[in-house]
Amino acid sequence: MPTVLVTGGAGFIGSNFVRHLLATDPQARVVTLDSLTYAGNLANLADLAGNPRHTFVKADITDRAAVRAAVGAGVTDLIHFAAESHVDRSIQDSGPFVRTNVLGTQLLLDAAREFGVKRYVQVSTDEVYGTLGPTGLFTEETPLQPNSPYSASKAAADLLVRAYHHTFGMDVVTTRCSNNYGPYQFPEKLIPLFLTNLMNDEPVPVYGDGMQIRDWIHVLDHCRGVEAAWRKGKAGEVYNFGGRCEMPNLELTKLLLRLLGKPETLIRYVKDRPGHDRRYAIDCSKAERELGWVPQVPFDRGLAETIAWYRANAAWVAGIKNKDYLGYYEKQYGKL
Ligand code: NAD
Ligand code: DAU
Repeated sequence: MPTVLVTGGAGFIGSNFVRHLLATDPQARVVTLDSLTYAGNLANLADLAGNPRHTFVKADITDRAAVRAAVGAGVTDLIHFAAESHVDRSIQDSGPFVRTNVLGTQLLLDAAREFGVKRYVQVSTDEVYGTLGPTGLFTEETPLQPNSPYSASKAAADLLVRAYHHTFGMDVVTTRCSNNYGPYQFPEKLIPLFLTNLMNDEPVPVYGDGMQIRDWIHVLDHCRGVEAAWRKGKAGEVYNFGGRCEMPNLELTKLLLRLLGKPETLIRYVKDRPGHDRRYAIDCSKAERELGWVPQVPFDRGLAETIAWYRANAAWVAGIKNKDYLGYYEKQYGKL
């Protein structure tokens, strides 16, 4: 019976993963470890309260003693989601990104090694590959060329994971996924920020010309990918995951406006993100071939369900977008 330590399990993807694993594997025990930063929210796990196979530990992954205590308490497998995850914040202050994403990963690797964890999964991102031109796809062989402090800190963590495999023979697997959307995503990322603004008839900030391209994947497809990599991946290997759903930001913005029945006058073209990556697109054929994984949620269905979720969970949104909250852009540059 596996006891899986899930770091960052109170965040967006981590909470979806914890719920998915407990629902699909009746044998699994899950320990969620999370320090509850601005992005971590126990409300994301509220429906798991009282589940005897789930426990929550409030701890910071940069606290060596806390990490050793958690990992040393019978953990068999470790799946590492916890991170500072928002690119714009990393441009404002890279300190927390280096601390959590690099130092935190090192302390988890050390503890996993010390306590003989069977398999360590590093949840990374396609952003470590940098940016693409109009054609081509990121494969697992694409050189790491991170362009933001966020992606640089994730790439540094990936290299530590690689080194612990090479040097100590640790059983590690790394996943690199494209842009996720779905329920419980913190409304600073494009889709939930725009949805929650538009639901209040508030404007939405499109960076630069809005022609940057992202490859969208439903969070549950990502969660299934992480699970498949954990169960079936080969030690030391990297697996890319993507939704085969490339879209320029402006096209996505107009789609959201249409789906919510809002006018295009709510679009505000604002100063571009410094160093903004132009295009991400993933070749996920290795995961399909070796893990038997395929993305299952079509974008139109996933987006409709996501919109319905944000509508039905106005209290969750209000708990975040309280009186102190401003969209990140507004916080940095003022009222839209
Ligand atoms: P998120 O910001 O929603 O959640 C991050 C979680 O980590 C939060 O619960 C937060 O409290 C926790 N955390 C942060 N610092 C911590 C620390 N020092 N100690 C303990 N807990 C800490 O992020 P997300 O979007 O769910 O991303 C999860 C992981 O997936 C990250 O590693 C990210 O790099 C990766 N990823 C995200 C995407 C995406 O589109 N969101 C795509 C690919 C990969
Ligand atoms: O590709 C995977 C990555 O996807 C993850 O590693 C990151 O954790 C996650 O945050 C996400 O990074 P992005 O920077 O691509 O996501 P974000 O939602 O911040 O932005 C998506 C695109 O939309 C990007 O081109 C910037 C643009 N954008 C974003 C915001 C928040 C806007 O034009 N306006 C906005 O207000």
